[in-house]
Amino acid sequence: MTKYVIHGGSPLYGEITISGAKNAAVAILPAALLVDGVCRIENIPQISDVTLILEILEELGAGIRVINRHTIDIDCSHVRNTRASYEIMRKIRASYYVIGSLLGRFGSAEVAMPGGCDFGVRPIDQHIKGFVAMGAQVNVEGGFIHAQAESGRLVGTQVYLDVVSVGATINIMLGACRAKGLTVIENAAKEPHVVDLANFLNSMGADIMGAGTDVIKIRGVDRMQGGFYSIIPDQIEAGTYMTAVAAAGGEVVIQNVIPKHLECITAKLLEMGVEVEELDDAVVVRREHPLRKANIKTMPYPGFPTDMQPQIVACLCLAQGTSIITEGVWDNRYRYVDEFKRLGANIRVDGKIAVVEGVDRLMGAPIRACDLRAGAAMVVASLAAEGTTEIDSVYHIERGYENLIEKLKGVGADIEVVSVPDGLEKQQVG
Ligand code: EPZ
Repeated sequence: MTKYVIHGGSPLYGEITISGAKNAAVAILPAALLVDGVCRIENIPQISDVTLILEILEELGAGIRVINRHTIDIDCSHVRNTRASYEIMRKIRASYYVIGSLLGRFGSAEVAMPGGCDFGVRPIDQHIKGFVAMGAQVNVEGGFIHAQAESGRLVGTQVYLDVVSVGATINIMLGACRAKGLTVIENAAKEPHVVDLANFLNSMGADIMGAGTDVIKIRGVDRMQGGFYSIIPDQIEAGTYMTAVAAAGGEVVIQNVIPKHLECITAKLLEMGVEVEELDDAVVVRREHPLRKANIKTMPYPGFPTDMQPQIVACLCLAQGTSIITEGVWDNRYRYVDEFKRLGANIRVDGKIAVVEGVDRLMGAPIRACDLRAGAAMVVASLAAEGTTEIDSVYHIERGYENLIEKLKGVGADIEVVSVPDGLEKQQVG
């Protein structure tokens, strides 16, 4: 096991290049199960969540050939197994995308209930509602989801989502690609990774219209062939480095981004007194003056992303004035606040609201990453804190950030990875 040791308090200068989007990759890789042929997928981030998804695909019988660090060929032509085991599924939330893919291709799936970051209850009723509407029988028994299309193939229909759910939108879209007839998803999620998945599926022969709006129409096709696809840059990774510069100060060019995807984050940073300049495929982030307070409510895209909430709070801890944060997506996404308090932050939480009173400085302390984005936010806070911060349980962070240490060192951060003897840190799955 490892921990990060960060000597904070110095501004960041230089360039950081953003990797492929985690939440697009973890949907696109299982989507290859729908394809009879080789999918060459480029710009795959090297993170542990991707490794786990590839393990699930291999267990199901996919042929995987590594072309280079960020490119692989996946051939699912010979997959016949439709059962994904508990041992791997429990480790990652996005593993549930194999349900839509297997059900869509074979009319049947038997998959252990997924794991994932703990933000309170994480239901999958909307996924199940979609599959049932498309003619599947779905039972949850002994920790497994058993799904079977009654006529052997899902049948297109209209599905209205009661909540805007990224996972349900993606899973129903996966199920619908090879279903009989037209599926219409209403109140669909509009996140960039939903659009990226639709683009991938269309380039492999699917017929999807409307991704990126709240009505997505999928006309089922009999066959999908192989092809090439390159995954979009990671919106949240880019946003995390933007907040790192906002918190620590300095000037960093963040390369390989789609600035449009960052607008929801950029708008708040501008309000807080950070300068953000948009270039074609980069943003320049500069912070020279003290940060100002901001009120933020997290919402589905194009609102402010819940996956950026802890990182922006890290900045607001040091902003002048009182900021009010409303978490509009998850029930319990403030578990990290007690760790921030160890650094000297002044935050009160009441249900979905957090009140952040800005302080003049944070001071380094030992803290623990409690989930992926909270862990990233602890890195952001530590870069701004005076003295030394030690963050443990960093395997959470490594689920979603490729080369975080090297990227931050490249802009002058004093951060290193230190080994912790086995047994001193208890591993949880996230
Ligand atoms: C995705 O999770 C992301 N994960 C999460 O990012 C992200 O926080 C979330 O979307 C919201 O943007 C991946 O893409 C792998 P949802 P997902 O279904 O799909 C409720 C990260 O850090 N809901 O959009 O699981 C649910 O309780 C991760 O990268 C139901 O009620 O989220 C929540 O309140 C963490 N019933 C809201 O909808 C359902 O059937 C949004 O959840 C499904 C969801």
